[in-house]
Amino acid sequence: MKPANKAPLRFPPINGKCPHMIHGADYNPDQWLNYPDVLEEDLRLMQLARVNSASVGIFSWASLEPSDGVFAFDWLDRVMDRLADNGQFAVLATPSGSKPAWMSEAHPEVCRMTEDGHREPHGRRHNHCRTSPVYRAYCARMNTELARRYGKHPALLVWHVSNEYNGGECHCPLCHEAFREWLKKRYHNNLDALNHAWWTGFWSHTFTTWEQIRPLDSSIHGLMLDWKRFLSDQTLDFFRHECAPLREWTPDIPITTNFMGFHITLDYWSFAREVDVVSWDSYPAYHDRPLDWLRAVDVSFVHNMNRSFKQKPFMLMECTPSVQNWQPVNKLKRPGVHLLEAMQAVAHGADTVQYFQWRKSRGGFEKFHGAVVDHCGHEHTRVFREVADVGAALARMDDVTGTTTPAEVAILFDWENRWAIDGISGLSREERRYPETCTAHYRPFWSSGVPCDVINEDCDLSKYKLLITPMLYMVRPGFAERIDAFVRDGGTWVTTYLTGQVDESDLCFLNGFPGPLREILGVWAEETDTLYESDDVQIEAAPGTDCGLQGAYKADVFCDLIHTEGAKVLATYANQFYRGRPALTVHTHGKGRAYYMASRNEPRFHADFYRKLIDDLALRRVLGCELPDGVTAQVRTDGEREFIFVLGFNREPVHLDLGAAAYRDLRTGVEYRGRTTLPAYTALVLESVNSPVTA
Ligand code: GAL
Repeated sequence: MKPANKAPLRFPPINGKCPHMIHGADYNPDQWLNYPDVLEEDLRLMQLARVNSASVGIFSWASLEPSDGVFAFDWLDRVMDRLADNGQFAVLATPSGSKPAWMSEAHPEVCRMTEDGHREPHGRRHNHCRTSPVYRAYCARMNTELARRYGKHPALLVWHVSNEYNGGECHCPLCHEAFREWLKKRYHNNLDALNHAWWTGFWSHTFTTWEQIRPLDSSIHGLMLDWKRFLSDQTLDFFRHECAPLREWTPDIPITTNFMGFHITLDYWSFAREVDVVSWDSYPAYHDRPLDWLRAVDVSFVHNMNRSFKQKPFMLMECTPSVQNWQPVNKLKRPGVHLLEAMQAVAHGADTVQYFQWRKSRGGFEKFHGAVVDHCGHEHTRVFREVADVGAALARMDDVTGTTTPAEVAILFDWENRWAIDGISGLSREERRYPETCTAHYRPFWSSGVPCDVINEDCDLSKYKLLITPMLYMVRPGFAERIDAFVRDGGTWVTTYLTGQVDESDLCFLNGFPGPLREILGVWAEETDTLYESDDVQIEAAPGTDCGLQGAYKADVFCDLIHTEGAKVLATYANQFYRGRPALTVHTHGKGRAYYMASRNEPRFHADFYRKLIDDLALRRVLGCELPDGVTAQVRTDGEREFIFVLGFNREPVHLDLGAAAYRDLRTGVEYRGRTTLPAYTALVLESVNSPVTA
């Protein structure tokens, strides 16, 4: 058995100026310049809600530079000064997320171009060309002005670079040319290597000059995959460009840019390497189905990923204090859910809880999006009270700041793998669901209170006891070797259908799937059956095996038909023409074991299988007791003190048996032991009162 993780150290605060949890919101005072009382009233209200930071300037370009080269910083000076007077901080944005009209008018190249060569009209946001030298020059000038002016300002806490970058396509000549340059680097100026990687002998697609290449042919999978990589890399290049003046003038101010969960177009693993602190925007649609906790599992998985990116605390840069305005149905969060959501973020490693938005705008697209301060303008609202409760809770959590979570389990979520899966022509078009599949494998760990990291193919595996790689379709160079070493060294690895089919160029492995992983798994995957919803495929535990499965389970969407090559069969298909063929296998490899789950299975299968594995591997459940459905327990620690978050997402009270252990709630001071009732939507932040840390 592998040794447990070493207790991590406490991380310093995001910025030493503020050694507390950050509670803040996007704030747009520039929309209120004709309403002179608003700023002072906002400062009063921020004190009441214990909001200690404001994210300012995010979409302020038109107010900061009303015409080319004419700057108007007076309003921002005043906001920064008044925040500082008030003991508060600014998360100061660069305004590139939305460009001013004068710029698009004078330089149409700052707008993106569609596939058929049309320049997009000015308007909306998040739609500038990332290659345009003109846009880059304007950004560099603006960011230099901001850094020089506010670099030493006492209120400046963090740089919020742009807003929610996306890798949306721009097909202007500059971007196409930049793509070709990117390809020349990737293929070392060797067109033959590119033609081989893209298998262009197919349909006579061979390129004979670089100039022929345009990212418009979705039938060339390798081309489209590289185009996705390019869009992500070019956005990162743009980000670096935005950061250069900030790094030069303010080397001590941490830089972030807000991520968007599973957002498809950017490989956040590479972005995370370039930011000083990771931040993300979380907008789950709570109450969209009967069981809220299913939604909570998805959110927890993404929180884990954001913590894992840098293996340290992150910022929850945005969430709504009440309601959103862009979901199909925009439902109010039920009482208590806001505090629960905030504590959930902290439980998984957030050192901030920040909102979109502080004050509802009077007009425009987001005037009905939730805000701390509603159009009524005062503090006597349900939402304001709930936000103030979060403020009070965070104010008691200084000791949690900077702590982290040791995990013994890693689940893989890899963007390049995802792009390749989405690009497959075949199987089932609608049902690939890579993110949802990864989350489905996480659910039993959430329900058992077992912490998990989320990693990609480049991450270190050596500290984990259990590695889970759902749908590991693309195996990039070196990853098979590292899995091999991990398992030989005593690690347990679980993988699924659609594993080990293509290399980094999307070329299929020859000599049998799962390609370079075949020997570790001891199986050969010959074919994949794709199911209709009406198809009935059952699997059942093989007699005499002890892998936690009992009786029959429903398989769904994908069923690999595999042959064992040394692996032991733990479950078989119960019907269809592949009745009796292996559905779950395990192979001993060195000191470890490798499992192959041949089909996508119903949640009960995951629950039974992983709970047995949790026991077999003696993975630590942070609360050491059974948790009712809809409740999870998560931990943060500095190696000495432990903070255990018990999060209940049920609509009705449930009972939890804490056994002999006694805990005190950091937030309320209440002591808990034995049988405990958890009210609907509840969050406890517990510290043990009778036992030392066992991690
Ligand atoms: C975010 C965005 C914010 C605001 C918010 C509304 O994606 O960064 O500016 O639009 O959505 O939910």
